[in-house]
Amino acid sequence: MGRTAIEFQQVSKQYPNSPQYAVKEVSVSIEEGSFVTILGTSGSGKTTFLKMVNRLYEPTAGRILFFGESIQNLNAEEYRRKIGYVIQQIGLFPHMTIEDNIATIPNVLNWDKQKIAGRVEELLELVGLSPQEYRKRYPRQLSGGQQQRVGLARAMAADPAIMLMDEPFGAIDAITRQTLQEELLHIQKKLHKTILFVTHDIGEAFKLGDQVIIMHNGEIQQFATPCQIMLQPANDYVARLVATEDTLQHLKVLTAASVMSAADSPHTGAGRVKSDASLYSVLTFLLESPQEYVLVEDDLGHIVGKITWDELKLKNKRHTPVSA
Ligand SMILES: Nc1ncnc2c1ncn2[C@@H]1O[C@H](COP(=O)(O)OP(=O)(O)OP(=O)(O)O)[C@@H](O)[C@H]1O
Ligand SMILES: [Mg+2]
Repeated sequence: MGRTAIEFQQVSKQYPNSPQYAVKEVSVSIEEGSFVTILGTSGSGKTTFLKMVNRLYEPTAGRILFFGESIQNLNAEEYRRKIGYVIQQIGLFPHMTIEDNIATIPNVLNWDKQKIAGRVEELLELVGLSPQEYRKRYPRQLSGGQQQRVGLARAMAADPAIMLMDEPFGAIDAITRQTLQEELLHIQKKLHKTILFVTHDIGEAFKLGDQVIIMHNGEIQQFATPCQIMLQPANDYVARLVATEDTLQHLKVLTAASVMSAADSPHTGAGRVKSDASLYSVLTFLLESPQEYVLVEDDLGHIVGKITWDELKLKNKRHTPVSA
């Protein structure tokens, strides 16, 4: 398994003149390459959490480590360039072309012109915008969804170790939002970025995150896979949150691959599902079958794992659960 990209050790943040903690005694480890969504209501501390990762805010207590090193010991400017940050308001520079917006950090890093041009082209293609058409435009000549894509491209320009995304799709219509979610998942599959993604939309949090951090009053209520959260909420708060959503609906977005365990011995005659089949179909299979498990196969028909009732209910082998 991967290294720990970001670790919070008993981190608290109290703003001046505020009696309450915006973030309170948070300890959490984010594994390299994982897509973690942070879900919570307004004022629960999500943005404060992200901004401490980026050193826009300093904690009042505790430590934050970046690949094992305290971020306080790192040069703030250099460190920040290793982190891509996409904010809710998009925040493109209005007087700069799309090309120049995306090239912001490469320019600071003094990359040569040709390399920058190549990178801009590659990124525009990655986020689904034709370079010829969009490179020379200004942000106001793009729709909100297109601007958000440019925001994503800009954050990825210098190949950051970590991407922080603060409600990036918040202001976007439902259909475009779905498309952007799909594209982000696709990009993540391809590039294996470490992503911290803030949202207050439970559907979005569960769809995108390998793991979800649920925050309330500055504290982490649960940090686990969507499946675990739905099936084993850590406390009443999480249980109520999950109850507001249609669990079966969520089982439709979770895949067999997310809960399977190793299929140790050869199994013949057992039923099979594809690794990208939904847990809903796995559940249906197990309910209708006398078998205690179902085998999971990849696109080529090779067995890659199995799912028993236990896996479906509780366990998730992909990540170790950490409950707060
Ligand atoms: N710069 C600041 N100075 C003082 N208090 C702040 C500051 N920024 C945030 N807060 C307070 O800290 C708490 C957490 O705020 P934060 O912005 O982290 O919440 P959030 O979860 O991102 O909310 P939202 O979903 O509305 O964006 C809130 O009570 C807020 O009023
Ligand atoms: Mg916020």
